[in-house]
Amino acid sequence: MTQPVALVTGSSRGIGAAIASKLRARGVRVIGHASRAVDEQTIGADLTDPTAPARIWEEALRRAGGRIDLLVNNAGLFSPNPIGLSDIEWLDNWEDTLRINLTAAAELSRFAVRHWLEREASGRIVHVASRAGYRGDSPDHWHYAAAKGGMIAMHKTIARQYAARGVMSYAICPGFTDTAMAGDYLASRGGPGLLADIPLGRVATPDEIAAIATFCALDAPESMTGTVIDANGASYVR
Ligand SMILES: NC(=O)c1ccc[n+]([C@@H]2O[C@H](COP(=O)([O-])OP(=O)(O)OC[C@H]3O[C@@H](n4cnc5c(N)ncnc54)[C@H](OP(=O)(O)O)[C@@H]3O)[C@@H](O)[C@H]2O)c1
Repeated sequence: MTQPVALVTGSSRGIGAAIASKLRARGVRVIGHASRAVDEQTIGADLTDPTAPARIWEEALRRAGGRIDLLVNNAGLFSPNPIGLSDIEWLDNWEDTLRINLTAAAELSRFAVRHWLEREASGRIVHVASRAGYRGDSPDHWHYAAAKGGMIAMHKTIARQYAARGVMSYAICPGFTDTAMAGDYLASRGGPGLLADIPLGRVATPDEIAAIATFCALDAPESMTGTVIDANGASYVR
């Protein structure tokens, strides 16, 4: 059996680090990514730079010897954008969040789909979206919710368009997950009181989200392509 190769964006910490670790434990060769090259397995590229996705894809292919089987679109930014900011500040924040959370994922997905179609090979994409994509988010996070909603729509489009040619797409919608991102959010929204909205009584762990991502990447039946898996402690049941 050939060792599968995965490109995982945002693998330096949080959910992405947990995904990279679980995939490696299953024998996958993981090429990681973050804004800086934290180790030699990680490609450093700031996704606010429009040239970054192409550079990441080319470098990942080079390191992998020309074949990538799995793409995990995980990198993300959750940063407040209050409507009271100046017009240009608000727009700048909107553009950064859309570029990091949606446009970069779209570009990498496009490179991956073309790679698989050209080689007549199968491949899988796992998108780490968010509960916000369905439910919406706080008043300071229009951009984040819009980017994640866009990611879910893009994922469904890829799944419907390319399933017959062996390209599968899966999406995960975590609720609050215990990473730096969630810690900042909980603090900014008044702390543990927020847990009252989560019937499970706690936020998710990165390992839980990584277990779902690993299932989608390696084990999920092809018939599940196009699926969106919620992981939010029943805080948003749809
Ligand atoms: N935590 C939650 O509550 C939660 C809930 C729902 C969905 N999610 C989603 O899950 C994914 C992972 O979230 P997380 O909580 O694990 O986040 P995190 O701990 O803040 O880590 C974010 C990752 O994305 C990378 N990243 C952020 N901005 C980047 C940029 N401009 N260029 C390149 N890389 C960048 C970071 O790299 P650096 O280390 O270099 O900054 C890091 O590896 C995100 O897509 C997020 O939206 C999280």
